[in-house]
Amino acid sequence: MNELFIPILLGTARQDRLSEKAARFTHKLFSKRSDVETELLDVRDYLTDRSWAPWQENDMSKKWKEIMARADGLIIVTPEYNHGYPGELKILIDKADTEYAHKPVAFCGVSGGGLGGARVVQQLTEIVRNLSMVSIVPSVYFPHIKTLFNGAGEITDPAYERRLDELFEELLWWATALKNAR
Ligand SMILES: Cc1cc2nc3c(=O)[nH]c(=O)nc-3n(C[C@H](O)[C@H](O)[C@H](O)COP(=O)(O)O)c2cc1C
Repeated sequence: MNELFIPILLGTARQDRLSEKAARFTHKLFSKRSDVETELLDVRDYLTDRSWAPWQENDMSKKWKEIMARADGLIIVTPEYNHGYPGELKILIDKADTEYAHKPVAFCGVSGGGLGGARVVQQLTEIVRNLSMVSIVPSVYFPHIKTLFNGAGEITDPAYERRLDELFEELLWWATALKNAR
């Protein structure tokens, strides 16, 4: 069994979401590593749950808290909507609290424009700080998402493998250090 468990969360439930391509690409690369166990999580699976305060327990929120309690870190892949985060991502984040503490989080931003979600990543760094998470650098940005992946879902720019590898290395360094400290 792998020592570290770090899931990847796709942060939008929007119909026809293009961020799914970035999330699947990130998951495929991260899954190749033998030093970490990962899983692709989807905000869509939590959409019908109205109990987003951490103390309002039901099966869905319980499941989320269990995943986060087990996790040694998190990668969030999220698009930018009006310079901000998707509402459903914030609601899901709000379902847990202490389960996140002293764990690293890495961000992948997605956008139709040229900034690759830099503004949504900046916003989320302020939120995860309140959960005692460590927001790591680098982030990876997927701009011009409509053309960055081809029709078959393959990325058209080979530099992304290296960029994501750098993110993974840093995330795993923090995940190991913080796991030992916890
Ligand atoms: C409501 C809405 C707001 C958007 N705001 C921004 C924005 O602020 N900056 C940007 O670069 N793109 C913006 N876009 C374009 C999205 O980043 C682009 O559609 C991208 O595909 C969104 O990811 P998704 O397909 O996974 O939903 C917006 C799109 C929507 C639907």
